[in-house]
Amino acid sequence: MKTVLITGANKGIGFETAKEMAQLGYFVYLGSRDRTKGLDAVSTLSKSGISDVELIVIDVTSIDSIRNARRELETKTDALDVLINNAGIAGEQPQNISTGSIENLRRVFETNFFGAVQTTQQFIGLLKKSGEPRIVNVSSGLASLTAHSNGKGNSNLEAYDAYSCSKAALNAFTVMLAGEFRGTKFRINSVGPGYTATDLNGHKGTQTVEEAARRVVKYATLGSDGPTGGYFKDEAIPW
Ligand SMILES: NC(=O)c1ccc[n+]([C@@H]2O[C@H](COP(=O)([O-])OP(=O)(O)OC[C@H]3O[C@@H](n4cnc5c(N)ncnc54)[C@H](OP(=O)(O)O)[C@@H]3O)[C@@H](O)[C@H]2O)c1
Repeated sequence: MKTVLITGANKGIGFETAKEMAQLGYFVYLGSRDRTKGLDAVSTLSKSGISDVELIVIDVTSIDSIRNARRELETKTDALDVLINNAGIAGEQPQNISTGSIENLRRVFETNFFGAVQTTQQFIGLLKKSGEPRIVNVSSGLASLTAHSNGKGNSNLEAYDAYSCSKAALNAFTVMLAGEFRGTKFRINSVGPGYTATDLNGHKGTQTVEEAARRVVKYATLGSDGPTGGYFKDEAIPW
């Protein structure tokens, strides 16, 4: 049975992704930084007949927490087939780049960028043991520097500059990591799930978690002919 670890999977897009990966026959390690919320999520899935799911407590901003999660996973499985770096925060408003608080910018980077990098570093050993390792970095359309340069970066009223910068950095991480593993069995991509109704945006998003998770799942389950080092929604997004 293939295995997947999804960070921030106790709710939102991550939770729906966990559900869909389990329905596809993966054993799901459902990442949650809060044990109670994580257990509730596992129990909700279990009540709907999805049992191949186990909680892994992981806070992506804490190296100790990530190391503990890695040690725990090592006792449960010899290999990890898929890592989905989904945990993310929007940050506080206002965050326009000329005056937004540096503390907020750093906090957003801690989760959305450093969190994904340090999680990947801790799990890369287990991923290398998979026959078909896949990494999905859950990015955003707001990471597209092309869209921002064209004045099409953000159609909402609020500026999401800290968030956009952190996700652009996450995309750079995708490119660097895919470059390091080019010519190997790894497939590593950024996926923009689309503007989705979740707690992240006070449920103002216009798409459903099902639509968002479908995009993530597609790149988490790529075949060996699939792309690597790309940035996709339904089609490739300009960087
Ligand atoms: N919704 C959208 O429109 C949209 C659009 C583009 C991209 N995305 C991206 O999609 C991903 C999922 O977001 P969502 O919309 O599903 O938001 P959400 O419902 O707010 O879920 C975010 C998840 O991340 C977790 N999280 C936050 N900080 C964490 C940390 N330090 N360590 C571990 N987990 C942490 C949250 O845990 P708690 O419950 O403990 O807070 C929660 O499980 C994010 O990366 C987001 O940037 C979302």
